[in-house]
Amino acid sequence: MDTKIIRIADPLNVKDSELTEAAGIIRAGGLVAFPTETVYGLGANALDENAARKIYAAKGRPSDNPLIAHISCMDELPALVSAIPETAEKLAAAFWPGPLTMVFHKKEIVPYGTTGGLDTVAVRMPSDPVANRLIRLSGVPVAAPSANTSGRPSPTQAAHVIEDMNGKIDMIIDGGPVGIGLESTIVDVSGGMPTLLRPGAVTLEMLTELLGEVAVDPAISGPVSADVKPKAPGMKYRHYAPKAQMTLVEGTADKAAACIAREALKAAESGKRVGIICTEETRALYPDGVPGIVLRVIGSRGNEETVAHNLFAVLREFDDKDVDCIYSESFSGENIGRAVMNRLLKAAGYHTVQV
Ligand code: TXA
Ligand code: MG
Repeated sequence: MDTKIIRIADPLNVKDSELTEAAGIIRAGGLVAFPTETVYGLGANALDENAARKIYAAKGRPSDNPLIAHISCMDELPALVSAIPETAEKLAAAFWPGPLTMVFHKKEIVPYGTTGGLDTVAVRMPSDPVANRLIRLSGVPVAAPSANTSGRPSPTQAAHVIEDMNGKIDMIIDGGPVGIGLESTIVDVSGGMPTLLRPGAVTLEMLTELLGEVAVDPAISGPVSADVKPKAPGMKYRHYAPKAQMTLVEGTADKAAACIAREALKAAESGKRVGIICTEETRALYPDGVPGIVLRVIGSRGNEETVAHNLFAVLREFDDKDVDCIYSESFSGENIGRAVMNRLLKAAGYHTVQV
């Protein structure tokens, strides 16, 4: 299949005329990748089971892993969900449009092909102007997983989408690099206590401040054993996986850096290529210019949003450079750091070392 790639001239001031063709493709049951404020999404008509099937095929994704339906405004929500609990209204007022997904009981119109057989549907209203306008022009809710091949890090630039999806989908919209860099926060509001299923830029601290108590799904911080069914089915897969074995070193930044530098030198001496994830604060603690060591500053400990923003691009770069192993420092585990640690732990297959 020929994939048409279009570039939005000024993504913050996108014109309807730039998105007319893309909206037509979605309405006709095709696939269009587009930027959002979190990561690039792979969009199709969420009400069309056939279109959903094409998404799973393009990504190589297991079909029991449900898709998020994206809407452009509140008026589009009641058609999809059987009830809008008060908690959801509060969350929507505070965080929509934005990087928050809520899980509701679905209406019949939402096909099981979109929800992976579940009676619930995940809904998000993106704030990114290109994403929001594309959904509005399509005139249908847009099912959109991250636009990566299943198992690869989510795409944060159009080039990543082109790597994974060129030739497999109808169109890729290049709207430049995304803002946040990690996927949306997911909160289940379908019954009882609101429950955090995936941490993101709308942090647990922000949710708790607004709602009081919020439960946290155990799949967020640890591996899911084979007999437990995680609430967000996607959490059981080794998502965000780089090709190399990754080790996450936990402890103070200085001690972690010393341990990583030692292990990396040993590995490099034995002929391996090693990727290291460090920070502006710890950069000087690593050796310079050692053959076989690829050292990447992922951002600043003083501003973990920068770490979130660069994480997936760095993991992809290590894939491209064919490193044999990756060592990463660890992060606070609070605020956006909770989302960063969730993705790093999954990328490492929960392989951690304490120093
Ligand atoms: O930021 C995002 O959410 C991006 C952009 C494109 O909007 N999308 C995204 O989609 O990350 P995806 O498919 O890569 O991740 C969706 C996650 C999966 O872990 C899935 O299991 C969970 O949402 N999910 C979807 N529907 C659900 C449901 N009804 N109940 C529980 N979890 C659900
Ligand atoms: Mg994904």
